[in-house]
Amino acid sequence: MSATPEQAAEALRQGALILLPTETVYGLGADASNPQAVAAIFEAKGRPRFNPLIAHVADADAAETVGVFDEKARRLAEAFWPGPLTLVTPVRDARRVCDLARAGLDSVALRVPGHEGARAVLAAFGGPVVAPSANRSGRPSPTTFGDALEETGFAVAAGVDGGACAVGLESTVVSVLDGRVALLRPGAVTRSQLESVAGPLDDSGEGRRSPGRLTLHYAPDAPVRIEATAKRGGEILLGFGSGVGDPRWSLSATGDLREAAANLFRLLREADRTHPAGIAVSPIPAEGLGEAINDRLKRAAGHVG
Ligand code: TXA
Ligand code: MG
Repeated sequence: MSATPEQAAEALRQGALILLPTETVYGLGADASNPQAVAAIFEAKGRPRFNPLIAHVADADAAETVGVFDEKARRLAEAFWPGPLTLVTPVRDARRVCDLARAGLDSVALRVPGHEGARAVLAAFGGPVVAPSANRSGRPSPTTFGDALEETGFAVAAGVDGGACAVGLESTVVSVLDGRVALLRPGAVTRSQLESVAGPLDDSGEGRRSPGRLTLHYAPDAPVRIEATAKRGGEILLGFGSGVGDPRWSLSATGDLREAAANLFRLLREADRTHPAGIAVSPIPAEGLGEAINDRLKRAAGHVG
């Protein structure tokens, strides 16, 4: 049963965990200032402690009380918030997002989600809420309330049902540190959209290492084979484009990258539940949202991303 935003805010105040619906994926949320609550997230996910979390806030003004925004960070926030963009900036108030949530870094990851349910919870709570994807570590992120309950429902005091996630892939993570803008994790906000607002990205490698980006990540139990043009014995083929494979397993029959992103994690899970010999996935074009989809697929397949 779904909790109300007020019930979720009350659970957060008591130091308990919640399921937070967002437009990207479901989050496992806690009061960002409460180290014990944050520790409970790592425990429920079985996540390595060095991986810092994203703090979700209600609006850009709230974000600027936690992080230090330069001109470029402000422009990015104005262009893409509320929405699927996370900005890593120097931390201004380290108590609001505790050390454990930042993995001891002097930077902080901030996002204003676009989902109404998420914003209602954040408004009712009134402070930053850290929320990694609600899957157990290394598994695909949940994009429906049912999948979120199945992954980490055992650990929460309140779960807010916000329906199916419209985007279906985690947010784009961008750092804005020392005047340099670097893409740490591709997502729904594409490289060209970022560059149109903040100028060329810094691909020097300096800012590009996002701690905790494991090589094998987002992985179902069945082995994943990417760039597959046909299925082999016992495999399920997740097709892309018209006439590719069984329509039931199509990421997008019309070759629409948005539709494929929204379907990706759900279909990986549904395929996995049938215990196939493997999951094959059609080639996905690299441009636009395809960069993020291919990034997740390479990790699901255990290839270095
Ligand atoms: O769409 C999303 O972003 C979802 C929903 C729930 O909002 N959340 C999510 O959180 O994917 P999580 O914790 O699974 O991913 C956080 C990402 C990781 O890649 C982490 O390494 C990076 O953000 N990150 C967080 N803080 C950072 C920091 N200070 N410096 C560099 N990278 C950071
Ligand atoms: Mg995750």
